[in-house]
Amino acid sequence: MSAQSATSALPPMFQPITLRGLTVPNRIALSPMCMYSAVEGTVGDFQLVHLGSRAQGGVGLVLTEMTNVRADGRISPGCAGLWRPEHVAPWKRVVDFVHRESEAKIGIQLAHAGRKGSVPVAWERSARGLAERGWEIIAPSAIRFSDDSPMPRAMTTDDIADITNCFVQSTKWALEAGFDLIELHMGHGYLLSSFMSPLSNKRTDGYGGSLEARMRFPLEVLRAVRAVWPEDKPISARVSAIDWEEGGNKIEDGVEIAKMLFDAGLDIIDVSSGNVTGERRPELPGLFQTPFSEAIRKATGKPTMTVGNIRNADDANAVISEGRADICCVGRYHLYDPYFVRHAAHEQGIDPNWPKQYLNVRRMLASS
Ligand SMILES: Cc1cc2nc3c(=O)[nH]c(=O)nc-3n(C[C@H](O)[C@H](O)[C@H](O)COP(=O)(O)O)c2cc1C
Repeated sequence: MSAQSATSALPPMFQPITLRGLTVPNRIALSPMCMYSAVEGTVGDFQLVHLGSRAQGGVGLVLTEMTNVRADGRISPGCAGLWRPEHVAPWKRVVDFVHRESEAKIGIQLAHAGRKGSVPVAWERSARGLAERGWEIIAPSAIRFSDDSPMPRAMTTDDIADITNCFVQSTKWALEAGFDLIELHMGHGYLLSSFMSPLSNKRTDGYGGSLEARMRFPLEVLRAVRAVWPEDKPISARVSAIDWEEGGNKIEDGVEIAKMLFDAGLDIIDVSSGNVTGERRPELPGLFQTPFSEAIRKATGKPTMTVGNIRNADDANAVISEGRADICCVGRYHLYDPYFVRHAAHEQGIDPNWPKQYLNVRRMLASS
């Protein structure tokens, strides 16, 4: 059997995908998830074990948690960072482990929390806002994320240029650390997302108003990052394709946003939604965000990732084979089962390609 036909015989979720010079060995990614366990932005044993386990568990692509380009761009004091040179070596330790001990590729999600910053870690968030030790937060306009959030300062054009430079510097450090892919966080109401949504961006200086103007800063960041990130390495962006709110972005805007990002050099778009204001929307069942990925993929002809409630191989295989997305990000289910991908392989009769240290599992499974 040729390599090509051997590959096409694999279930859709186990087919590799190539983005620029990067081949991701299967279609399941660990979705970025803040773990609030960094110390002054520095990652350590927790992230090594957490991300390393999911890589050993068989994902094709590990995406790190939102990793902030400035100390005052964090959500909370526990958030991960890449804003100073000392952050590089701890990240490199994680990247090297993933590359050495698994077939997974690893991307870093670079972010600035904007008006959602300066709050306690998730499990202490009964009250929003850090009573002490908080920091000034910035946003396109001086509008709070929610009634109990800190008030942001409206950014000047100098701030915009500063933050763009921070994304560029963090990208250079991400390269030093050996990451395979950059994902820019342009979703969920964080800084770049807050420029994109008309609910949070009321600027009148060329960075607000029309969708094109609201996209100016995110596109400047993308182009600046693309200019320093190697040609053969891909860039992704996570977006909120719709805001789920009256007066906010709708899927038509999401499609236009995607087109602008692809025109500026994006390789794949990671399609999420909402969280742009503190208004809670109901928990939606099923693959409720996949229609947005599908709409963007059909309108642009470009690769997409989908995310939300994917927790079994049937869903992942259907999404890929029906052309609704190219990669499935799995978040919370990976907290439940770090070995989701290898388990799904075994259940579908595919060799889960166990790490050499774990090969005895095969004999155990064969005898059961
Ligand atoms: C604990 C936690 C932290 C998260 N942190 C991030 C993050 O850093 N960046 C991001 O883009 N999304 C973040 N998300 C959203 C997830 O990546 C994902 O989109 C969401 O959980 C829906 O996918 P799921 O149903 O597979 O969990 C987070 C979600 C959870 C549960």
